[in-house]
Amino acid sequence: ESTLGAAAAQSGRYFGTAIASGKLNDPVYTTIANREFNSVTAENEMKIDATEPQRGRFDFTAADRVYNWAVQNGKEVRGHTLAWHSQQPGWMQNLSGGALRQAMIDHINGVMAHYKGKIVQWDVVNEAFEDGDSGARRNSNLQRTGNDWIEVAFRTARAADPAAKLCYNDYNIENWNWAKTQAVYAMVRDFKQRGVPIDCVGFQSHFNSGSPYNGNFRTTLRSFAALGVDVAITELDIQGASPTTYANVVNDCLAVERCVGITVWGVRDTDSWRSEQTPLLFDGGGNKKPAYTSVLNALNGG
Ligand code: G3I
Repeated sequence: ESTLGAAAAQSGRYFGTAIASGKLNDPVYTTIANREFNSVTAENEMKIDATEPQRGRFDFTAADRVYNWAVQNGKEVRGHTLAWHSQQPGWMQNLSGGALRQAMIDHINGVMAHYKGKIVQWDVVNEAFEDGDSGARRNSNLQRTGNDWIEVAFRTARAADPAAKLCYNDYNIENWNWAKTQAVYAMVRDFKQRGVPIDCVGFQSHFNSGSPYNGNFRTTLRSFAALGVDVAITELDIQGASPTTYANVVNDCLAVERCVGITVWGVRDTDSWRSEQTPLLFDGGGNKKPAYTSVLNALNGG
């Protein structure tokens, strides 16, 4: 196959990208995005500050722009993200305790109702664990509402849209030897044992010199999948875009039956949140980079 999406589809997987609503009037951007990818994640538009700028007043203008573009072009949509310490609107940052807990629940219900039946996977909770060796939960306003906030978020999400696959999503959980990876693994195992509804784990996979790709990523994906969840690579970008590393990541996903798909975090290097690292598959001019060819070949089986 000659595009990333079609090549991934040969094994029943998707190949997606983050889409920014502000770029949908750039024809170079939309031509590449439409041709190469069959799954879309809104880069910022479905986050809390975008969708509920004032408490109880939901605004899906930008989110729907991304959603409609995706669906009109035959792509499936991943939802990102419902409960997160970052990109909270000011009113939410100012809440705590029971009021914040209720606001989180109301937010999940409001956004999931709008997209009921339309989102394949939702990142229900994003980045809830601390970096470093502690294996602890991140100290956020949500965490301070009580350690059960994550499972409350998942139970709320299941009731709000039973058709959506519910994911926990995080970065620096790709290396099996890291404390953060083991802490998230223990949480997912506990959730499965106690019947807390969780269907998938998203590995953001922002690889750079500080958190480089490690060959044990495949072990990580396999180990999580063995708990009975799907796994997905949800925000892939690699500092310098080494073709070898990109191929390794793709092959790790292909080796794990429950690895359902790969999303890269943007189209061209110039669209990246860390453009100075030139981490993506297309250069600023929209040309295919060596990493693109490497990914396509891997998806095509060699
Ligand atoms: O829209 C405003 C604009 O009105 C304003 O003039 C401008 C001035 O700074 O800011 C614009 O908002 C920026 C937004 O991106 C849209 O471009 C925010 O400042 C900026 O913080 C925001 O960055 C996003 C970041 O999440 C915020 O946390 C990145 O685009 C986005 O790629 C990044 O994505 C995250 C995932 O959601 C979670 N995992 C990590 C990943 C990378 O950080």
